[in-house]
Amino acid sequence: MCPVEHLPLKHLADKRRFYKNYWKNDELRNIRPDGLGEFPEGWDVRAYLKELTARLPHDSLVDFGCGYGRLCRAFAPQKYLGIDLNPGAVKTAAERFPTYSFQEADFDHYPPADIYLAYTVFLHLDDEVLAEVLTRMADSCRKYLIIAEILGREWRRPGTPPVFNRDQRDYVSLASAAGFRLAWEDARPYQHYQSNPRFADKNTDLNVLVFENQRIRSNRDQLKSPAPNQRAFVVDTRALGNL
Ligand SMILES: C[S@@+](CC[C@H](N)C(=O)[O-])C[C@H]1O[C@@H](n2cnc3c(N)ncnc32)[C@H](O)[C@@H]1O
Repeated sequence: MCPVEHLPLKHLADKRRFYKNYWKNDELRNIRPDGLGEFPEGWDVRAYLKELTARLPHDSLVDFGCGYGRLCRAFAPQKYLGIDLNPGAVKTAAERFPTYSFQEADFDHYPPADIYLAYTVFLHLDDEVLAEVLTRMADSCRKYLIIAEILGREWRRPGTPPVFNRDQRDYVSLASAAGFRLAWEDARPYQHYQSNPRFADKNTDLNVLVFENQRIRSNRDQLKSPAPNQRAFVVDTRALGNL
């Protein structure tokens, strides 16, 4: 498990406060670092996310840690809700993308949705906070959880903010404790890191992990003859194939 010494706070309530204040005061500094442009990945990730989510049947998607709404145009406005701890980012997102919905997040209420997307968010949460987030998410996320970020414990460092990058097996273990099963994975180049020789000894791919909510799947499996208004969903991850 990830060491929490980089975040020297003992109590979960203190950590929640730390994160809330950190992101609130951050404004957009760590959401859109200076000089890296809109897509430091080196390609427009929205086209990729559009194609990926088109293969996952869904009526709603929560962009968890949406920042200033950079990714929202990958999705249909009527299916999309962006949530973020940072009220300034949520305000900017709403101004920039008036046809999309955004709201300030807190740690207790996660809106129900078929898909939860966490794009470069979880690496900022230590294991204890992430375990709590995943447990609440498993209650609200009806089908799929997509985690997209650079994997690799070699990236961990203290600092502002500290980062807790994980290996894939760390996510599999934390997510499965909350009821999610890894269904599909992918890796794409993250150009900003690949092009820098300083990072030659590190993983520089953007990794994409798609989990399905097992709790809901087993409920579905128990439904021998669903009532007419109960829509069973079929998880066919073969449909993801090679994007
Ligand atoms: C590096 S930014 C990524 C923003 C966006 N996903 C993107 O790719 O442009 C991380 C974002 O996660 C948000 N965040 C961090 N912890 C969060 C939490 N527990 N709940 C909601 N948002 C959170 C931060 O406020 C910040 O906007």
